Amino acid sequence: MSTLVKNGTIVTAADRYVGDIFIDNGVITLIGQGLNIPAETVVDASGKLVMPGGIDVHTHLDMPFGGTQSADDFETGTIAAAHGGTTTLVDFAIQNFGEGLYPAYEGWMQKAEGRACIDYGFHMIVRELSDQAAHDMDKLTRHEGITSFKLFMAYPGVFMVDDATIFRALLKTRDNGGLVCMHAENGGVIDTLVQEALRQGHTAPKYHALTRPTRAEGEATGRAIALAEMAGVPIYIVHLSCSDALEKVKQARDMGLPAYAETCPQYLFLSYEDYERPGFEGAKYVMSPPLREKWNQEALWKGLQKNDLQVVSTDHCPFCMNEPPQKQLGKHDFSKIPNGAPGIETRMMLMWDGVRTGKIDVFRFVEITSTSPAKMFGLWPKKGTVAVGSDGDLVVFDPEREVQISAQTHHMRVDYNPYEGRVVKGAPAFVLSRGEVIVDHGTFKGRPGRGHFVKRQAGRPLVP
Ligand code: URP
Ligand code: ZN
Ligand code: ZN
Repeated sequence: MSTLVKNGTIVTAADRYVGDIFIDNGVITLIGQGLNIPAETVVDASGKLVMPGGIDVHTHLDMPFGGTQSADDFETGTIAAAHGGTTTLVDFAIQNFGEGLYPAYEGWMQKAEGRACIDYGFHMIVRELSDQAAHDMDKLTRHEGITSFKLFMAYPGVFMVDDATIFRALLKTRDNGGLVCMHAENGGVIDTLVQEALRQGHTAPKYHALTRPTRAEGEATGRAIALAEMAGVPIYIVHLSCSDALEKVKQARDMGLPAYAETCPQYLFLSYEDYERPGFEGAKYVMSPPLREKWNQEALWKGLQKNDLQVVSTDHCPFCMNEPPQKQLGKHDFSKIPNGAPGIETRMMLMWDGVRTGKIDVFRFVEITSTSPAKMFGLWPKKGTVAVGSDGDLVVFDPEREVQISAQTHHMRVDYNPYEGRVVKGAPAFVLSRGEVIVDHGTFKGRPGRGHFVKRQAGRPLVP
């Protein structure tokens, strides 16, 4: 199969120039000007930007959580991702208690196979570090291309592990070249505050945020980084939401430590005020960490500008409000609202807002949505750039296209959108995965099962 993308403005994290891209059997084999090569598919990209497809390194598809299952599976979730210009994702497989890590790896492979429409990899969530699990960390990293491991400092009884477990996992990555991704919130403090709030009769969704102070995230972030420093390894903080936590990452990086972090669009565009919406509406925004006071947004944008934050992912973890009534599980008790919100489809369009409003330039846009995630998680240069030898994963982006975000029109299998009604300017015209046009002006052209599992490389992150 061959594809020629003609006359676009090619943008990478480093370059911008007008050119043509020839993709043969899924791989870019030629980039030049005025290429006149016969191709089975020709995409006219004139007037458009041609960027590496988005890479979302934090998704939860088909995940059992909070007494229910995240609403998108690998078919609906990857179709939605493709519509939004994302061509690769890295999802989280979850270790079962009492088992090593391989059953979870095999289980998540089964969930994705035959369903995924874009390429995908997996991180592994480690819930207990038995000898078997420790052994499997090595094996997954060295043989299966699963090179990153999420640990939780929150959710006692569900995911939370103690400092000794974290430290032992970090030491494992020192030996095998893997990377620990940390959910950094102080679970003990939060759980105590939650019980206290419930005792006082506070059951509304906003108490989810009020019982998860920014200090609990800041403290855990600092502790995670200190543990990684003592183990002598890099660490990656997931879904960083606030200035308190960012300060810890900044301090560490100023000291020259390999501390990295991602934030997500919800922390850049939404705020605590969303919990004050009438009735049970605030449940739409129940996620962890929670949305923060608005002033934190400026600090996060600054973090992205200065590379104290390297990646923007989504933490896509959708639960329906009513059809089916998943969020309603917490109608009378905020602590029972399943944590998470949808975003796999809107990440690139929302982040383009940062370019339009002058917060980041187009190169930084490519970096934080594609190149740095690829470099961070062993996907580069196969993914994350437009170069000869890289996969033909491209988003042909129309900076003039306006989209009104709505649950009526989105492709995520969830009955609300946290950004309902928001108009964004700048959206994908075409999306290509390994040279195949999978989205053409809002029409999906791919098919379930065409996505490949991608084995990732271990080793120190390639991000500065
Ligand atoms: O609320 C969230 N973030 N749900 C997904 C699980 C996690 O901690 O990433
Ligand atoms: Zn998390
Ligand atoms: Zn998550």
